This record gives sequence, C-alpha cells and structure tokens, in this order.
Amino acid sequence: MKFSLKACSPAEVAADVVAVSLAADGSFSPALAVLDAAADGFFAQQAEKGNLPPGNGTLRLFVDVPGIAARRVAVVRHDGSERALERATAAVQQLADESGWAKVALLLGAGAGSIALMARAAAHDAYRFDAFKSNAGKARKHEWIFVCDKAEKKAAQVALDLSRAWAAGSYFTRDLVNTPPNVCVPAWLGEQAKAMAKDYDALTVKVLKKKDIEALGMGALLGVAQGSVNEPRFIIFEYRPENAQNAKPLVLVGKGVTFDTGGISIKPAGAMDEMKGDMGGAAAVFGAVKALCEAELPLYVVGLVASVENMPDGNAIRPGDILKTMSGKTVEVLNTDAEGRLILCDALTYATRYQPQAVIDMATLTGAIVVALGGVRSGLFSNDDALADALLRAGEAARDPAWRMPLDPEYREMLRSPFADIPNISGVRDAGAVTAAAYLSEFVDYPWAHLDIAGSAFKSSGPKGGTGRPVGLLLEYFRAQVA
Ligand code: BES
Ligand code: MN
Ligand code: ZN
Repeated sequence: MKFSLKACSPAEVAADVVAVSLAADGSFSPALAVLDAAADGFFAQQAEKGNLPPGNGTLRLFVDVPGIAARRVAVVRHDGSERALERATAAVQQLADESGWAKVALLLGAGAGSIALMARAAAHDAYRFDAFKSNAGKARKHEWIFVCDKAEKKAAQVALDLSRAWAAGSYFTRDLVNTPPNVCVPAWLGEQAKAMAKDYDALTVKVLKKKDIEALGMGALLGVAQGSVNEPRFIIFEYRPENAQNAKPLVLVGKGVTFDTGGISIKPAGAMDEMKGDMGGAAAVFGAVKALCEAELPLYVVGLVASVENMPDGNAIRPGDILKTMSGKTVEVLNTDAEGRLILCDALTYATRYQPQAVIDMATLTGAIVVALGGVRSGLFSNDDALADALLRAGEAARDPAWRMPLDPEYREMLRSPFADIPNISGVRDAGAVTAAAYLSEFVDYPWAHLDIAGSAFKSSGPKGGTGRPVGLLLEYFRAQVA
C-alpha cells in the first residue's frame, strides 16, 4: 500500500480514477470546479443534463473526460461531515476494488485533516484476509494519491505519515485477530513478537514461558492456562527510542486469550468461533507498538501481553477453586468464563515494577459492554480523570471513539467472597462490564484506564473479523503526548 502526496492541480493527477465531491446542495467543491474549468465546462453541462449524482451518498462515474489526466472521474455527493467523507471514500474504494483500479486519487476533501481521514477510510476498506484461502489471488498493490496546496504540504505530509503508521499497525492487529485459533496459540503470539523486534532498533521483546511465569507467582494467569495443552506466554515489548521524552513509561496491557471456550463454565455453541478474537486486546498492543515503531514517536512505551487458551480439561480450574494472584490477593473462581480478569490482574500487578506514568489495558472482557455500547464505542473505565479525558479526546480525533463508564465504590462492593479476598464475578448480571472493571481496579496503584473492546474489536458481519481497534485511539493518544 502506498500513500502519495502531490502539490498539483486536480486536473493533472495521473490515476485510474480521481474522486471529487459535490456538496449536498448541488454546488461544486473546489476540486470539482477546477476539473470543470480544465474540461471546458463539462461538469456544468452534465449538471444541466441531470447526470450528476442525484442524492446524498450517491456516486456517478465519468470516463475519458477531456482536459483531465486521470482516466476516470468519480463524483460523490455528500454533506461534508466526517462520517460522510468516510463513507464517500469507502464507496470510491469499493468501486475501484471491484473494477481492478489500483491508483486512486482521493480529492473528496481538502486539508491535512481530510487527507488523514480519507487515507484511513480507504486503507480500512481495502483490507483483506485471505492467507488461509487456497485460491487467494495476489494482493492488489493499492496506491492512494492526495493533492494539497503548496502551503499545506508539510502538515499534510505529517498527517499522511501518521496514517501510514496507523494502517501498518491496524492491519497487523486485524491479521492477528483473524488468524485461526489452531495457529494463533500463545507460543505463536510470542514468536510474532520476537519477529517484530528484529524489524526495529528501538524495540526489544522478551517472551516469558510457563516456568518464568511460575517464578513470578502469577497464579491467576496460570490457573486459566492449566486447562490447555497450549502453554501460556507473557510477552514484554519495550519501545524506547533514544529521544524518548518520558522517563517513566506509558504501559499498555492486552488480554491475549487465543481461544475462550469458557472453560468448565463452558459457553454455548452458537458463534463460539468468534472467541478466536478474544486476544483482541493483545493484538491491539502488537498493532499499537508497531504503529509507534513506524511513526518513530519519541516516547518510552512498554507493552505487556498475557496470553493463554481457556479450555475445559481434566486439569482445568473449576468453579470454587481459589487462586493466589501475583499481588498476594486470593481469588475465588466462581465462573471459569470470567477468565480475562484473572490473567489481566497478574499483568496489572507486573506493571507496577515500571512505576508507570500511566497504564492502559485493553480487553475483550465482557458481553455486557456489547449490550451497552454495541460495536460503535469502546467502554472506558479509569481512576484518573485527566487520563480518561485524554483517551476520550484521542478517540474522537481518530474516529475510534470510546465512552466513559462509571467506577463507583458501590460496584466494587458487589464483589464479595466468603472464602477468598475477592471473587471473579459478582453473582448477579447487573452492570457486568462495570463489576469486571471494578475487579481490575483492585490491582492497580497508578493512573490507569481500562478499555473494554469486546464490541469494538471484532465484527460479526459485514465483513466479519477484526476491526483493528483501538489502535487509532492509542496512536492519537501517543501523538498528543509528544511535546
Ligand atoms: N471473552 C468473553 C467476553 C466477550 C463476549 C467477548 C462477547 C467478545 C464477545 C469473556 O471472557 C467472558 O466470557 N465474559 C463473561 C463474563 C461472565 C461470566 C461474568 C460474559 O461476558 O458473559
Ligand atoms: Mn470468557
Ligand atoms: Zn474471554
């Protein structure tokens, strides 16, 4: 995939198709006006004949227009909102894909912000995962071309470079999520991390195996892992470029359950295949670290991935078992399907050794957050208002939005065990996403945020699979941290 930026006239862009906008009221966008002038009033004539796109969101294609270098002109009518620009871009990208056009000039909006938005929408839409199809065609070589004024070129180039880093990171996240669970097991994730470290000087990776995890005393993580023949891994990324501006790291933590059967509290059969996506938080750590490396941001960032497979087995944990966490606290496992919080609590305890500036964990943690927010917004929980606000702002800017959820002490009080320090579930269904977050909050003593991405990281249809979220939110948060 290639993004290129040109400071030239829209009429001079060589491409298979150049896409421009028509405003909702039928008036010409600046780019369309330039094309019209270069083509001797061709588009004004088409307007008179009623050939321009008739309604919002519609597209019309013109071929071999005189005076225009591109082979085709796609005119899309839309209201100019960010959402409309995103959809217009996706419509053009889809048409280009169906038609086999690789070189697409996107002039649907102007300025650095619009260019970033179009670049991301086009790349998002062009993603394919056919590594496991025996008749997979050769991947198309996409080239997206953007045009800007000379005065804007610097800002547009910065925005485009960041979009390229985002695309690399979010594609990686999606590939990991989509990889089937017979391949993507904890050890395989560890290998992917090691392979990635070879590509970047500022990145080091350590992969802890079962023995190392035992030595750390991560009894909750090990408890979940013990029902699977696929041994756990604890992966530590350290991205520390020489010009890092922060002495204390920002730490990312990801839930890496490579398959969640529920364990002995087994899930029903329907759609269980989607539980291959239960490592979406881990995949977001991989993708965010990759995006950081690609963008070469001057920040010290640590990524922690707790990876296990949750299986029912003769050796699996049972409801009633009590596990000793790395923090020393004991947990009564009342439901083995509430496994994410068990592995995360040990990862959050591990994070304390960095004296972190902030810790952000990401997890496909609860069905309850899907009920509350669907796939539109990630659920955000935090013990720190400044951190929460920064993440919410980043989500809006990156169009990868989150929504703040509460953490009142009353929710924590819903977690009571007669036998251990804390149970892993509350025993009632009420506020399931909040009580899960309240459980995690017991294990943190630093500024912390938790993103429940059970709805946003994976789509069940249209098309099914990993979404690459919340890599966009994270990369934008990091960018805003750079002085
Ligand atoms: N991985 C699931 C949560 C999930 C559900 C992710 C739907 C993606 C889509 C998690 O481990 C889980 O099973 N949570 C239980 C918790 C319950 C037992 C308290 C749930 O949400 O039902
Ligand atoms: Mn589960
Ligand atoms: Zn799970």
